[in-house]
Amino acid sequence: MAQNWTPDGWKAHEARHLPDYADTALLGEAEATLRSYPPLVFAGEARALKDELAEVAHGNAFLIQGGDCAESFAEFHPNTIRDTFRVLLQMAVVLTFASKLPVVKVGRMAGQFAKPRSSPTETKDGVTLPSYFGDNINGIDFDPDIRRNDPRRMVRAYSQAAATLNLLRAFAGGGYANLRQVHQWTLDFMGRSPWAEKFAETADRIGEALDFMEACGVDPATVPQLQGTSFYTSHEALLLPYEQALTRRDSLTGDWYDTSAHMVWIGDRTRFEGSAHVEFARGIGNPLGMKCGPSLEPDVLLKLLDTLNPAREPGRITLISRFGHDKVEAGLPPLLRAVQREGHPVVWSCDPMHGNVVKSDSGYKTRPFERILAEVRGFFAVHRAEGTHAGGIHIEMTGQDVTECTGGAVAITDERLGDRYHTHCDPRLNAAQSLELAFLLAEMLTIAGRERQADAA
Ligand code: PEP
Ligand code: CO
Repeated sequence: MAQNWTPDGWKAHEARHLPDYADTALLGEAEATLRSYPPLVFAGEARALKDELAEVAHGNAFLIQGGDCAESFAEFHPNTIRDTFRVLLQMAVVLTFASKLPVVKVGRMAGQFAKPRSSPTETKDGVTLPSYFGDNINGIDFDPDIRRNDPRRMVRAYSQAAATLNLLRAFAGGGYANLRQVHQWTLDFMGRSPWAEKFAETADRIGEALDFMEACGVDPATVPQLQGTSFYTSHEALLLPYEQALTRRDSLTGDWYDTSAHMVWIGDRTRFEGSAHVEFARGIGNPLGMKCGPSLEPDVLLKLLDTLNPAREPGRITLISRFGHDKVEAGLPPLLRAVQREGHPVVWSCDPMHGNVVKSDSGYKTRPFERILAEVRGFFAVHRAEGTHAGGIHIEMTGQDVTECTGGAVAITDERLGDRYHTHCDPRLNAAQSLELAFLLAEMLTIAGRERQADAA
């Protein structure tokens, strides 16, 4: 357990990207309400995820983490949750097959409601208002009342997270995640997609593997692993009053856990040494992510790792690099080498989204699919060269057919971005782009797997 730590100890540290609340009494009430509510997840589940991530750290599994940039009250709908879950599972099946490794599945879901913003204010037609910081804090409409920080939003976010998690648990355990069914969705989807031919061979081979298993008597009716799956939740632990109110002592171990999600991460803008966010995270037992962008120096990273994981527990830390397609090959190796040298057992995951934002000619914030793919390729190339395990990906995606990122086989053009641009924050991969990325990743994982076998031989 962390030394000299209390759930509110972060308040004595420098906190960036936290909202000011004008009405402190209202804040106190919202916090008290959250404190009286049930935990969303159990400590034991967070430990189970940590164990699965330890396998990723050891090179024996792969991590896929994905979901909205910002969940919203407006987009809250069972179909939205279902479709994102479904695409994550489809991606996981393709990646399991290609890597021959178990795939750990973590949603950016059921709590991803607070956003750091590059500017605290936004100006439109000469009017300046506070920026939108996520539905947990204020509303997106450009209206002074709606942009005001309102602590009561935290209670609504909790309720939405609880309902989302409830549905995810039902999907994961209630038969919806049946392996045969998941593969059938992929086939149906491919039937309608322009890249069907390119990936037909992989899909056919997955189908054959399922047929073979069934012929051997291994089918979903008899094998629980084929019937359901484990699925975890995560979000950026940005809004510390919310996180603190959901932090509870585990009755089994006496350790503190943030029960708002199985895993939480520290963003690129709040991972500086001595930050309130790092202070908060060091005391909770959950597996932690930390974003690593171009400004992170290797020695600072090592100090952060010593603070966040002094016991060097595998699975505790997932380092999520987000350099940008043109920076990853130069920027990642110094971090990798420093971490290797000091023997920190981390999961390396690639966020190919946050370093690849561009403004389109039509004025939308977008991400070209080719750049996303280029960063993933760069990430794999670096790990291959360094002899380390490219452990996972972290993506902003949705199961909906949105038009937010350009490119991909469906070739979303600049002009089409306005058709279905629904995100509350950053542009997400749509269902087709996500699945296409999974097939392309599958190629990289197949190569990595062959090399592993050759090394072992
Ligand atoms: C995010 O993941 O939504 C995010 C804000 O990323 P980063 O901290 O890497 O900028
Ligand atoms: Co984002």
